[in-house]
Amino acid sequence: MKTIDDRLATRTTRMNASAIREILKVTQSGDILSLAGGLPAPEAFPVDIVKGICQKVLEENPVQALQYGPSEGLGPLRQALVEYAARLGISASLDEVLVFTGSQQVLDLLGKLLVNTGDNVVVENPTYLGALQSLNAYQPNYIPWPTDDEGAIPDALEEILRKNRVKLIYAVPNFQNPTGRTLGLERRRCIARILVQYEALLVEDDPYGRLRYSGTDVPTIKSMAPDNVVYLSSFSKVLSPGLRLGWVVAPHEISRWLVIAKQGADLHTGSLPQAIAAEFVAGGYLDRHLSVVLDLYRRRLAAILEALECHLNEVATWTRPQGGMFVWVTLPAVLDAEEVYWKAIERKVAFVPGKFFHTDGVGNSTMRLNFSNTHEDRLGEAIERLAGSIKDVAA
Ligand SMILES: Cc1ncc(COP(=O)(O)O)c(C=O)c1O
Repeated sequence: MKTIDDRLATRTTRMNASAIREILKVTQSGDILSLAGGLPAPEAFPVDIVKGICQKVLEENPVQALQYGPSEGLGPLRQALVEYAARLGISASLDEVLVFTGSQQVLDLLGKLLVNTGDNVVVENPTYLGALQSLNAYQPNYIPWPTDDEGAIPDALEEILRKNRVKLIYAVPNFQNPTGRTLGLERRRCIARILVQYEALLVEDDPYGRLRYSGTDVPTIKSMAPDNVVYLSSFSKVLSPGLRLGWVVAPHEISRWLVIAKQGADLHTGSLPQAIAAEFVAGGYLDRHLSVVLDLYRRRLAAILEALECHLNEVATWTRPQGGMFVWVTLPAVLDAEEVYWKAIERKVAFVPGKFFHTDGVGNSTMRLNFSNTHEDRLGEAIERLAGSIKDVAA
């Protein structure tokens, strides 16, 4: 009898991420304090604003919001994003700005368009797990881009590019998922110079850039090497992930192909969510709402860092991000974070073991903690439980 394995395409086997899915299944149970996901706080959803905008959109332009739309994205949203991108220091023409069904879709479509089986794709080590899940289907050969406490190392990229033919480079320079690290200005300049010199293409994934709780913004790599960078961002962390809205600023010859791939994938992104987002940006709601979100997450970041200081001082080290949603913890090398994970589940707290974010089998003693989705009053308790589980394993 035929099994599913007889039916699946060869590439599908690479899509198998069951280990982490199995592990995280247990976090669904209601009484677990989960630092595992990458979810925004429910309190951060601008329900009343969206209600009002919906009403306005459906009264003023119901057909545009409910009809099929262009694969490039809704005109008013793209126009609003051109202006928004300019405020981020990215100058873009309308044909370079496209809207997608979440930024996750862009990762999939870029893989589909650019990556042949066995092509070299450079990813920060560690990197965003979802990028690996998207790209895996296209069977790339990952080259891990070494990182240190300040993020991805430019010299290491140059060495990789000198020795290999590289199809694509993927990085999250702001408040990286999973480490929370942000690349400094000097490193960005070096990376931009290297991209130009080697005629390389970088996907600069930036869903967290606006979630800065302290310090000052660093210019995007896109602004330094516009022809060599696909800039990718999202409404998921600043408005709502349920609307499924991502957007890119891509060099013209890539945006043209992205539109073709998008057409084949899902024709276009939902018109109603796009109409909502257009008004959210152009009507000035985004900036006002962001200040609410920043206040909320700033408190949560302070709470988790204080709790780590209190319960894990001299046991572990961790990053001190100035924004985003994640803190990265490194345990002594003898401790296995997956073992800690199962002890943590017994103590009703969850996180993601860091090895899943690596492409070279390292990172066994690291873990990613999310702080945006747990109330600040409970983060202390969560970290106390986590510290207990680390001690269980150490013992
Ligand atoms: C770095 C990074 N890129 C992309 C995504 C996907 O975001 P979206 O909801 O826009 O698909 C996430 C989601 O957590 C992310 O952390």
